[in-house]
Amino acid sequence: MIALGSDHAGRPLKLEIIRLLEERGLAYTDFGTDSEKSCDYPVYGRIAAEAVADGRCERGILFCGTGIGMSITANKVPGIRCAVCSECFSAVLSRSHNDANMLALGARVVGPGLARMIVTQWLEAGFEGGRHQQRVDMMTAIEKERPAL
Ligand code: RB5
Repeated sequence: MIALGSDHAGRPLKLEIIRLLEERGLAYTDFGTDSEKSCDYPVYGRIAAEAVADGRCERGILFCGTGIGMSITANKVPGIRCAVCSECFSAVLSRSHNDANMLALGARVVGPGLARMIVTQWLEAGFEGGRHQQRVDMMTAIEKERPAL
C-alpha cells in the first residue's frame, strides 16, 4: 500500500500519479487534501508519514509546490526517510543507498512526464543494504538518542 498526501499546490500532480498507480494496478491510500482550496502541507504530510511509520503503508509519496515542505514535515516523523527529488538519479539512489520510504515531489518543479518517470523508477529500485545499512542505522540511532521532548 502506498500512502499519498498533498496540499493544494501538489494535488494536480498527485492526481497524475494516481493515474499512473491505477494503470499499474498498485494499491494506494490518498490521505488528502481532496480540494484545490489553500491548505497547510504539514497536516497532510504528517498523516501520510504516520501511515508509513506505523506500517499501514509500505511507502509514501508526498506532493506540494516544491516538495520541500512536505519532505521536512515527513522527516519529523520517527522512522521516515523522505527524499525530495526532481530527477531520476537521486530518486533511485534514495532507495538503493538511503532506503528512503517516502518520496516528495514538487508540482511547481517537475512536470507530469518527469514525475511519472521518477515515481516509476523510485518504486522499482531496491535497497542495496551492506555498507548502506550501517549508515541508515546511524540515522535511526539519532532519532532514538534524541526522543521528542
Ligand atoms: C504553497 O504555496 C507552498 O508553499 C507549498 O506547496 C510548498 O511548496 C511548501 O514547501
